[in-house]
Amino acid sequence: MPENHQTFIDGNSLEPGTQRIGIPQRTDTGKSAEHAADHGVFGFIAIFQVAQTYAQDPTRMPGIKLPLCLPVAQPAAIDIVFFIQWPSCIDEMQVSPKRMHAPSLKSLTFGDFCQGIEIMYLEEGQYYFSGGLPVLDIVRRYDTPLYVYEGDIMERQYRLMTASLQVPSSRIFYACKANTNLHVLRLFRSLGAGLDCVSIQEVDLGLLAGFAPGDILFTPNCVSLEEYEMARERGVLINVDNISILEQYGHRHPGASVCIRINPHIMAGGNSKISTGHIDSKFGISIHQLPHVLKVVEATGLHVAGLHMHTGSDILDVEVFLNACEILFGIADHFPDLEYIDFGSGFKVPYRNDDIATDIMEFGERISIRFNEYCRQRGREMTLMFEPGKFLVSEAGVFLARTNVIKTTVSTVFAGLDTGLNHLIRPMLYNAWHTVENVSNPLGRPRIYTLVGYICETDTFGANRRLPEVHEGDILAFRNAGAYGFSMASNYNSRYRPAEVLIWQGRDYLIRRREQMQDLTALQDTGVRIPFEEPERN
Ligand SMILES: Cc1ncc(COP(=O)(O)O)c(C=O)c1O
Repeated sequence: MPENHQTFIDGNSLEPGTQRIGIPQRTDTGKSAEHAADHGVFGFIAIFQVAQTYAQDPTRMPGIKLPLCLPVAQPAAIDIVFFIQWPSCIDEMQVSPKRMHAPSLKSLTFGDFCQGIEIMYLEEGQYYFSGGLPVLDIVRRYDTPLYVYEGDIMERQYRLMTASLQVPSSRIFYACKANTNLHVLRLFRSLGAGLDCVSIQEVDLGLLAGFAPGDILFTPNCVSLEEYEMARERGVLINVDNISILEQYGHRHPGASVCIRINPHIMAGGNSKISTGHIDSKFGISIHQLPHVLKVVEATGLHVAGLHMHTGSDILDVEVFLNACEILFGIADHFPDLEYIDFGSGFKVPYRNDDIATDIMEFGERISIRFNEYCRQRGREMTLMFEPGKFLVSEAGVFLARTNVIKTTVSTVFAGLDTGLNHLIRPMLYNAWHTVENVSNPLGRPRIYTLVGYICETDTFGANRRLPEVHEGDILAFRNAGAYGFSMASNYNSRYRPAEVLIWQGRDYLIRRREQMQDLTALQDTGVRIPFEEPERN
């Protein structure tokens, strides 16, 4: 090692003239700062409200030579940045393998800053939500089953995505089917997102949440012409996914502005149920039907303002995605009035440690280069659009359930929960993986459990999962529950749907109350009295 390197307790060293910067999780209470100087930490770059907390109370950082609290948007020039996994305190500080030498922060992406923020973390035998709220306190306050979302993680994901796109004009439309709670919609509206809606009801929820009609894209599949008409009345952007409707809509509204959903015939997506762009898929208009589409456009004078594709969810291979984009560029040449191209979504989020995830910064960079090049070739600026659902909200949610019973059979130990496929159907519907943790007994001896629900079908959340010993009454937490969790929940078996809580800047808000019997019966109270006879009794 060259001379003058400073070496710290953790074994890492810095080159002379460089500085070490900590990026604490928002959960950090300041305890870690006391030890930071021993580790050569020069200052902190904090994200969102953590910056404010530190800035307001510099005494929380007594050991720091020069506290540096920067909102992420205004990074200063710093020579070196260490990314610190900060789940506990700096005593056990691990410097992550990611160690960056950067001439200035310009070369660091926002994504780099966002590392290490997690919705839930374990410290000294207790689970906390980001913001320092003990998970079990939240359970005591709101009971189970319960969905809990972290708004700051939604914000992080949104900013990550917008920062990844380096084009003159881009928009992110949140695919709200993933989570339609009005408060979540309002959060995304406040961030500047648009909304991608697949039903007129989602459109109406979006309008209720305050989205302007021009910020809503209606992207339905196999709906009636009447539903398109309803969307038109509301003034939202219309995306047509079949030739029959395109033709009828065009004849009714010659010259109207539409987006067209193309099926590029690419096999992408985590499994067949969530792959939408292949040749047998019901979604979109086949690229092979392009001549027909062009005829309809010519005959009706429709103004094709947008092209769209969505090839599936959980796409593993970015190359596949980029290939599909190329196909769309090829088609775009036929539509001179295009104002935007919407490449849909399908970004893969991690479901377990070391899981594959879309490297959004890399993807953003590559698609931006290609998009800019394409716009240059055309001699016309267009807006680059995406409509992520899972990417924005999946990791921002956990689902909490209570263990009703431990049932030991001759072959299996079941943990039977106070929930089922009625509340979280993803594992049963498409074998989705949710990492599960025992929040009540995190340090217990590991044992193997099959986690099941209370529904009268086999509703297995996970087979043979290794968990710290689970007792009856223990609370289990399912990660990645922010997307397609509550929005797919039902009242099957006449169970109430769970309550939902949003944590925003360290405070918890009840954003949907738990259902009651009257919620199950209200709509059946239509005033009719059918004269059924009383049974005869002996
Ligand atoms: C048209 C459309 N756009 C966007 C999405 C969101 O996909 P994801 O949740 O994988 O981001 C979907 C999901 O099914 C979709 O059908």
